Amino acid sequence: MRLCDLKRIVAEAQRAFSNATDPVTLENEKARFLGKTGKLTEFLKNLGKEPEPEVRKSEGARINVAKQQVKVALNMRRQELADDLMNQRLADDAVDVTLPGRCSGTGSLHPVMQTWERVEQIFHSIGFDIADGPEIETDWYNFTALNSPENHPARSMQDTFYLDAKDTQGRALLLRTHTSPMQVRYARMKKPPIKGIAPGRTYRVDNDSTHSPMFNQVEGLWIDKNISFADLKGVYTDFLKKFFERSDILVRFRPSYFPFTEPSAEIDMRFEHGRNAGRWLEISGSGQVHPNVLHNIGLDPHRYIGFAFGSGLERLTMLRYGVDDLRTFFENDLRFLRQFI
Ligand code: PHE
Repeated sequence: MRLCDLKRIVAEAQRAFSNATDPVTLENEKARFLGKTGKLTEFLKNLGKEPEPEVRKSEGARINVAKQQVKVALNMRRQELADDLMNQRLADDAVDVTLPGRCSGTGSLHPVMQTWERVEQIFHSIGFDIADGPEIETDWYNFTALNSPENHPARSMQDTFYLDAKDTQGRALLLRTHTSPMQVRYARMKKPPIKGIAPGRTYRVDNDSTHSPMFNQVEGLWIDKNISFADLKGVYTDFLKKFFERSDILVRFRPSYFPFTEPSAEIDMRFEHGRNAGRWLEISGSGQVHPNVLHNIGLDPHRYIGFAFGSGLERLTMLRYGVDDLRTFFENDLRFLRQFI
């Protein structure tokens, strides 16, 4: 084994690598020198037959230097070929470097939350305050203060989630079944005129295509010395026109019953033209605040009068966008949610 042999092999490898014009040829050439039966590998194998340990050591070192040189030449050529490929692709326009990078998508507001914000904005623009109340209520605020005494049959109109707990005054706790407790809770903190809305989550034992165990409502309340049903009609009709951004909306007040309002009405609406036209749709409960509720607020029912309404935010969203199954709001399917960005 002579020094010049090694030098010759290194030079041969360098030539072979630079002659390789594609990665496959290059890797085959690599095998010829560095593979299991490659030329340099053969040298190393033969080294074992050398009887002199000193010679084995010095020769081994020389072979490794040569091997290193071959590897350097190989890697340089690999890089050159990769660069050539990239340049070729750039020249072919296969890579458009002006395209925006891939980034993680930003989220957006849930359609029901978009409704929530629109409702707040519309009522705020006509002088209503925005109030927030607890989702875990006492049965006093949820029922008793709203004129449904214990054992009153009206309580069973709503299937309630009771908690296995009581507040400090021994009142039963529950997930509020509507936002109406805010009629009393909010009004007690104010002096007339009391004019506000209270949107929020509510809970009932209910589950089908138009009901979900958790849903959102918005409570509206306006109490003063002379607030009449006509004001309710004006305010609510104006709200619907702003919310749906159309003026062909007919509104109807259908007599109904709620323990906390007297008289009470369901508010139905109808689009005059286009989609859903011709069909009355129930949109809200409403009524004139019951004297017993005014009393529980701490107001004199002979001096004060007003209205309340409670509307479902999912219901409003379904009507605005033409969604026919309420459960889709809670399935978190991006194919559905992306349509509301
Ligand atoms: N709280 C009633 C419900 O959940 C709606 C309502 C609110 C009715 C205010 C009258 C006045 O159905």
